[in-house]
Amino acid sequence: MSSKKTFYITTPIYYPSDKLHIGHSYTTVAADAMARFKRMKGYDVKFLTGTDEHGQKIQRKAEEKGVTPKEYVDEIVAGIQELWKTLEISYDQFIRTTDHYHVTTVQKIFKKLYDQGDIYKSYYEGWYCTPCESFWTQSQLIDGKCPDCGREVELTKEEAYFFKLSKYQDRLIEHIEKNPEFIQPETIKNEMIYNFLKPGLEDLCVSRTSFDWGIPVTFDQQHVVYVWIDALSNYITALGYLSSNEEAFKKYWPADVHLVGKDIARFHTIIWPAMLMALDLPLPKKVFGHGWILLKGGKMSKSKGNVVDPMILVDKYGVDAIRYYVLRELPFGSDGVYSEDALITRINSDLANDLGNLVSRTVSMVNKYFGGKLPGKQEFGEFDDDLITLALETPRKVEENMDRLQFSNALIDIWKLISRTNKYIDETAPWILAKKEEKKPRLAAVLYHLLESIRFISVLIQPFLPNTPKKIWEQIGIQQGELTTWDSLKEFGRYPEQARVQKGMAIFPRIEIEKKEEVKQQPKKKKENHRKEETAPTQIGIEDFAKIDFRTAKILQAEKVKGADKLLKLQVQMGEETRQVVSGIAQYYKPEDLIGKTVVVVANLKPVKLRGEQSEGMILAASNGEKLSLVTLDDDALDTGTQVR
Ligand code: MSP
Repeated sequence: MSSKKTFYITTPIYYPSDKLHIGHSYTTVAADAMARFKRMKGYDVKFLTGTDEHGQKIQRKAEEKGVTPKEYVDEIVAGIQELWKTLEISYDQFIRTTDHYHVTTVQKIFKKLYDQGDIYKSYYEGWYCTPCESFWTQSQLIDGKCPDCGREVELTKEEAYFFKLSKYQDRLIEHIEKNPEFIQPETIKNEMIYNFLKPGLEDLCVSRTSFDWGIPVTFDQQHVVYVWIDALSNYITALGYLSSNEEAFKKYWPADVHLVGKDIARFHTIIWPAMLMALDLPLPKKVFGHGWILLKGGKMSKSKGNVVDPMILVDKYGVDAIRYYVLRELPFGSDGVYSEDALITRINSDLANDLGNLVSRTVSMVNKYFGGKLPGKQEFGEFDDDLITLALETPRKVEENMDRLQFSNALIDIWKLISRTNKYIDETAPWILAKKEEKKPRLAAVLYHLLESIRFISVLIQPFLPNTPKKIWEQIGIQQGELTTWDSLKEFGRYPEQARVQKGMAIFPRIEIEKKEEVKQQPKKKKENHRKEETAPTQIGIEDFAKIDFRTAKILQAEKVKGADKLLKLQVQMGEETRQVVSGIAQYYKPEDLIGKTVVVVANLKPVKLRGEQSEGMILAASNGEKLSLVTLDDDALDTGTQVR
């Protein structure tokens, strides 16, 4: 038996809807980056994904199309598998809830829970939302409609089996309190404790009789297992739980992490742990509920018609660029707005400029100054230590961020090394060294440091950008193997001196942006006090004031706008929506000091572009021309998106 440490990671199993969008790809790309990272670290990884194929919605759609539900899902599942292949998702197992082994194990689980009294028969009466496959109580409805999707609900009463969820409430609270890492991020943990667990859990309806596209309850054939018991069990049926071969189950369970979107965090942090407690099984070590990729107008969804097709995006921009964008753009846990402009900016600035140019400049210089191969003699000098120190520190920083599932921060760390390496070129100015013969040994050392840093970078980006490293290795003349492992980053200086570089195609060609918006001029600072009559604002009526939609918003992310000293690019949470606002406050606030502040935004200001960055609103601040202070609110006193009057 292998003595390697195991790492079991799962994505949710996807509903076979006609098209998965870029939002769906988010969970899976993140899980894939994590799985690749752990494999690189030497873990025995099990990465599970799959499809959740039962339920009334599927049955209805199949009927509409005149095919059987199985025929209907088969075609869609093939499309999903194709998408994962395109996105280079390296899953170890793809489970379908229609797979025979899953069906039989779910039946055994249901029977076991029934036999031990955790499942009992009763009646269910409630409001049912078919698209969401959820029952709601009267008080949960909003304006008589489904609180999740806003659609019509039907009053339904039927005989049903119930799972004794309420019985596990106290144990669950205790587990969450004793295991601070169990539910992440904190916002979701608090939501679960204060919105669901503390107010009290109700028993859960776990069977249905009104449709039959589901797993039949073996001892009561009129019933099919209602979706969550079926779906959640996949994480253990995939491992052979209760089958004749439980080897994988013994090896990988409990899962190290279930990655899920925040919309299904409740099912994974309440229902699933309670089921596992009832089955007397250990709970997963972590459930991480990530944020949503939003499009203008809220969460991306097919029914809203604002779907972005990842296949088309990959075709247009390449798989590594799309993976980089989704992992880099939003901090894992927060929502973020998808925009093609932001994607192109990332490609051009981070990938083509920072990374691509570093590789091509270095390779060109080795070709130009040394005919493609460095001479043996090198002379170490100024700036080398700084670069080496950062290169050696970066793997640890990346690992820390990966362990906290902070993919975006891990990429930021790698890009700091890329920037530092680019800066090293400016500091050492190889083109000047090249002018004097006696400086050749120093020039050789500078280029060696560049090549070795590029080797570090190429190794570090492997989990995120699966195709780019190979392209870099070809150009810097190394082979995949010992020099491309995580362990090879323990030492700076392993790049083989005698390697021959080879100029290749640009690893990330720049995307030409058709039209560039003019940079808007910032208003000039007032230099002197004007006379009162000149500055006094015109009086307006309340109806004019009412035209301005002021809203509270929380700053989630802040960063400088490249090439603009005064501008900061902020991502703010405003109710359900995340927006980008560009604000001329860079001289007064450091980006990191802004995160978490609740500010006031003019929400109905026409969007503009500032230095190529979309700005959707304006943040209120008081300024006398010299000093500036943001208008802020007490932390978390009100929900974001609250109107300010
Ligand atoms: N079938 C259930 C999961 C059962 S797990 C035992 C389901 N499927 S889903 O297809 O609707 O969603 C799959 C995943 O995609 C979920 O984690 C969901 O949060 C995620 N996303 C769907 N739309 C999304 C965005 N717009 N942005 C980010 N993630 C999104 O739920």
